Amino acid sequence: MPKLYIETVGCQMNMLDSELVVASLRQDGYELTATAADADTILFNTCSVRQHAEDKIYSALGRLKNAKRGNPDKVIGVLGCMAQKDQGLIFKRAPYVDFVVGPGQLHQVPALVREARINRGQRMEVSLGRTDGSRHEIERSHESFDPLRDPAMRPTPYQAYVRIMIGCDKFCTYCIVPSVRGPEQSRPPAAILAEARQLAGEGCLEITLLGQTVNSYKYREGDRTWRLSDLLEALHEIEGLRRIKFVTNYPKDMTDDLLAAVRDLPKCSKYLHVPVQSGSNAVLKRMKRGYTIEDYREMLARTYDSIPGVAVTSDFIVGFCGETEADFEQSVELVCGSRFKNSFIFKYSERPGTKGAELYADDVPDDTKRRRNNELLEVQNEICEADNQAFLGREVTVLVEGRSKASEKHGEDGDRMQLTRRTNCDRIVVFEGNRRQIGQFLPIVIYDANAHTLFGEIVTQHVGPEVFSLTLPVKIGLR
Ligand code: 5AD
Ligand code: SF4
Repeated sequence: MPKLYIETVGCQMNMLDSELVVASLRQDGYELTATAADADTILFNTCSVRQHAEDKIYSALGRLKNAKRGNPDKVIGVLGCMAQKDQGLIFKRAPYVDFVVGPGQLHQVPALVREARINRGQRMEVSLGRTDGSRHEIERSHESFDPLRDPAMRPTPYQAYVRIMIGCDKFCTYCIVPSVRGPEQSRPPAAILAEARQLAGEGCLEITLLGQTVNSYKYREGDRTWRLSDLLEALHEIEGLRRIKFVTNYPKDMTDDLLAAVRDLPKCSKYLHVPVQSGSNAVLKRMKRGYTIEDYREMLARTYDSIPGVAVTSDFIVGFCGETEADFEQSVELVCGSRFKNSFIFKYSERPGTKGAELYADDVPDDTKRRRNNELLEVQNEICEADNQAFLGREVTVLVEGRSKASEKHGEDGDRMQLTRRTNCDRIVVFEGNRRQIGQFLPIVIYDANAHTLFGEIVTQHVGPEVFSLTLPVKIGLR
């Protein structure tokens, strides 16, 4: 059997793309290997959101130079957002790469691998740029890659990502996504529902719907327009599915019908990721986010009012062009006053080709960005810890995902092990359990907490007679 090694960086969308690429190559007889040295074909699924993600891939490619010299039959492919963004530059920087494939052309990967094994010669399959044709032509060149699912390809068979839309039309000035992932396009509800039914039929209990701005989902069908809330209602009917999540939300599209659906549908996770990016109106304006901080606060108050116990998380960019100390303090204030369950904080990374790079100087020094990043993280961590302390003594229900990181690291074997999974509001819980409890929903009482983890005990030690045949988790080479 030919061996495939794949390394993936970036967001959940990329993780799903890698899962599907691997599944399609398995149909061609490939099996996964954990090391590039063993592989006949090496793929990198890349990200362009920050410079750091690109540097990582270029240095991984650099390390392959000699590998290819020693074994010219090795096939090397670069997929994803950086492939779409850098195109021929990748061949210039790494002339031994066989093909470059944008995220809208992933269906071509199996054929490109087959070809590369026979012929030498480089191939590039990318989508049209945002000004390279009519909207319709550009849309058609960005194809959603959603082949049949293979439960063995997921890290756990109980959870799956489901794409509901691709692309983005928001054009925030710092962001490369609209140019590399193309125009916003929602998938037809029938395709999404069929995929979710198939997943549920295979024993999947939890699905996470994916879109760059997932709550902007809109699909016109005759007189009817499907919104995300309609989709959630329809998905909720699927027997076997126990939990539904969705990421990432755009603050302006957090409509009341969506909040009501999350509140009223028991299978909907009470967890919303709604990135604000900055607490300063001046910065939000330069970012062209399309809302003011007052709008965001109003949305947040509406969310907390409508959904009891909801957890909200956010993203922040620190050190965006022209961000003053006073602007930054407003981000700190927002974190202090917003009860975010967590915040993901990033230092601004200028992306050539974006409006931000064109219009504004990347003028905040790197050490200032780093200091602001650390400060905001510290404030958020204190809030996380206080928030998690409130869970002491409380009972939560978790879907047991698998072994905790510590258990994996210490190589625990046998039936007893430290297990982990998230609550309905997406908090991580770690507890002692039995291998057979993986894939079950269990009540856990919490006895300890730190900023990022709740520690608990299973309330009733009911272990069913059924023995789960565990599909071994497949490492998709995430770094
Ligand atoms: N620099 C830093 N962070 C960025 N993000 C997007 N573009 C950039 C950039 N150029 C962050 C945003 C987004 C998250 C996925 O990545 O916070 O929500
Ligand atoms: Fe990027 Fe803004 Fe679109 Fe999110 S909404 S993907 S930050 S352009």
